[in-house]
Amino acid sequence: EWPPTEGEKSHADHNVYPSAGVLFVHVLEREYFKGEFPPYPKSGDASSDPITFNTNLMGYPDRPGWLRYIQRTQHSDGVLYGSPTAEHVGKPSVIEITAYNRRTFETARRNLVINIMATEEFPLPYQAEFYIKNMNVEEMLASEVLGDFLGAVKNVWQPERLNAINITSALDRGGRVPLPINNLKEGVYVMVGADVAFSSCLREVESPHNQLRCSQEMEPVISCDKKFRAQFHIDWCKISLVDINKVVPVYITRPDPGTGILPEFGEYSPPSESLMGRNYFSDFLITLAVPSAVALVLFFILGYTMCCRREGVEKRNMQTPDIELVHHSSIQKSTKELRNMSKNREISWPLSTLPVFNPVSGEVVPPIHPDNYETTSMPLMQTQTNLQNQITIPQQRPSG
Ligand SMILES: *[C@@H]1O[C@H](CO)[C@@H](O)[C@H](O)[C@H]1NC(C)=O
Repeated sequence: EWPPTEGEKSHADHNVYPSAGVLFVHVLEREYFKGEFPPYPKSGDASSDPITFNTNLMGYPDRPGWLRYIQRTQHSDGVLYGSPTAEHVGKPSVIEITAYNRRTFETARRNLVINIMATEEFPLPYQAEFYIKNMNVEEMLASEVLGDFLGAVKNVWQPERLNAINITSALDRGGRVPLPINNLKEGVYVMVGADVAFSSCLREVESPHNQLRCSQEMEPVISCDKKFRAQFHIDWCKISLVDINKVVPVYITRPDPGTGILPEFGEYSPPSESLMGRNYFSDFLITLAVPSAVALVLFFILGYTMCCRREGVEKRNMQTPDIELVHHSSIQKSTKELRNMSKNREISWPLSTLPVFNPVSGEVVPPIHPDNYETTSMPLMQTQTNLQNQITIPQQRPSG
């Protein structure tokens, strides 16, 4: 809400009752609001205070879509205007009007309640839109000017009933801001409705002759133009005549958009504000539990194999033929001996040269462990002798 200031005063709401299908104009008069601002001590002439207005639908930052607002300068009145249609009939719209005194920075507030009335007779079926070149929109909104224009239209059309439906600045239709010379104006479109068919004068622009002149950017020859000419310069080439009973709704089939344009997905539905907690259980199962389960199974298989299925050296030896075992142990022995020899060259009789089997009986000679006797302290010859005594090596003796 506004900070309360001295100049702000509350007022009884002001009610208006426009009809749907008829132009609505409401002037925000500077004179009315000037009284709201207390006389400022050092002021010279309070009547020339610059005043601006802010208008918005109560509780919203802007006006309803159909309602437009214009104030040309801070020293002119503001005007609310627009064309309510049947769909706006219903609940009243409260428009907050805030006036600012730009010299004293005081504000005044007033509410305007717009109650749009539905009527059977509006909109009138024959609608003509004129483009008036020598007017600005706020000049046209003045009731006497609009009245003059409607009077001129009535003169050339002769309807029972006639009313203004809409007023649009040419700037809103792609017009340009005029140069500040020759008192040039922006131009304004005025749509009027009537209950009888268009007069022959209004249709004159449709003649081939005038169409040709329009296409060559020359002014068409219109017999009734002189009824307007004194006050209103009408561009007859831009007149549009619409009989709303004959308007057929046009269903435009959209052209194939081609590639590069996303297909239409219909209305956008934003995600709801209360979001559900996402369930991560299945993700958990897939990423953690399944690998863990596989690892556990492998762990048990391996554990069982390693602990309960061990066979050991004894079983292996039992299954291996003796000859292989002996062969293997002799290789081991020889390797070990050779290693020792390389360390200690005093060993002269390598065990590997000894036969493994008794050549006569064929029995296995138990391996003599080298550590069992002190090879180093034994004389070489004695060792040989001892060994020869132990094992009888078959020899070819010359004696026989
Ligand atoms: C009145 O004119 C304005 C601006 O051209 C347009 O947006 C609006 O639809 C018109 N209203 C009617 C009822 O034709």
